[in-house]
Amino acid sequence: MGIFNFFRKDTTNEPFVDSPLRDNWYQASSYWPSSFALVTTVSEDGETNIGPYQLTFPFEVIGGRTMMIISRQGSNTDLNVKRTQKCALNFVEFNKRDLKKIVGLGYPGQTTEEKMQDNPYTLVDSPTPGRASDGQRFPKILKEAFQVYECKLDVDQPIRDDGKTPEYLILNIENILLKETWAKNIEQGTNKMPNMPITFGFRDGARFWFTEIKRPFWFPTPTDKGPKEESILYEANRLDPENVQFTREACKQLTGVPRPFIKTVLKGIIKRAKEEGVAEVDEEYVIKINKERQS
Ligand SMILES: Cc1cc2nc3c(=O)[nH]c(=O)nc-3n(C[C@H](O)[C@H](O)[C@H](O)COP(=O)(O)O)c2cc1C
Repeated sequence: MGIFNFFRKDTTNEPFVDSPLRDNWYQASSYWPSSFALVTTVSEDGETNIGPYQLTFPFEVIGGRTMMIISRQGSNTDLNVKRTQKCALNFVEFNKRDLKKIVGLGYPGQTTEEKMQDNPYTLVDSPTPGRASDGQRFPKILKEAFQVYECKLDVDQPIRDDGKTPEYLILNIENILLKETWAKNIEQGTNKMPNMPITFGFRDGARFWFTEIKRPFWFPTPTDKGPKEESILYEANRLDPENVQFTREACKQLTGVPRPFIKTVLKGIIKRAKEEGVAEVDEEYVIKINKERQS
């Protein structure tokens, strides 16, 4: 038992009691730790505005790639996104000094000019072609961010737009920008996780709570449950989804490949399939390649 567990109260045997359903129940009636985004948009004066938003989450994840932001009505972010249709969701790593400033950026009722005087971040142009700041639609992004989603308002998909607060903004993700280290980390097999700050939200009318994550760790997914080809199928169809897809039967043929080599083997097959104009790798194709290797 670690020293912190020693001081932590064990509530297992306590009774459950009702927590009143208040507005903003996730922070006023319960506990909801999560990441948050620093949303950059262009103000009417053409300046980049930063608004912190905890209620920022993946919405459509397969096919459509969208995020949802829930914002109080009339925030700078709400008005700017509706006027310009564009925004960038910036994610930063943990820095206690900057978190204090983020609380300042999250104080309602300030104009962009007022709040940005105490902005701790460096605003830079997006490296995406055609997306440099133009003082009208495209906001700057934060140099300190490790990850940025560049988005466009999805006007075809309004959610309960009944004129009442809050606003549910559905945003199409047009680009995901990652700092090199974090892009490589995904491409070459994830070895580490960014040290993202976590917020527990606004409480007691006066305090914004945050925490720092401890060392991330992983468990292997079970190898003795479900079909053996499942994880191969998963990986195979994410390597080059636009050009080459694998059938389940094809992946069954590959279950004998030792795990550390599977990615290399899959990449080899994809390369070959592309050279030969094959869009779907099936059982027959894998058997053919295998035979050629052995002969
Ligand atoms: C860490 C943090 C998270 C926040 N999350 C939200 C949120 O999810 N939705 C919201 O409406 N306001 C949220 N706020 C409050 C907004 O930041 C606040 O309304 C601010 O005025 C928005 O800035 P803007 O007017 O420039 O868009 C949050 C504030 C902080 C500090």
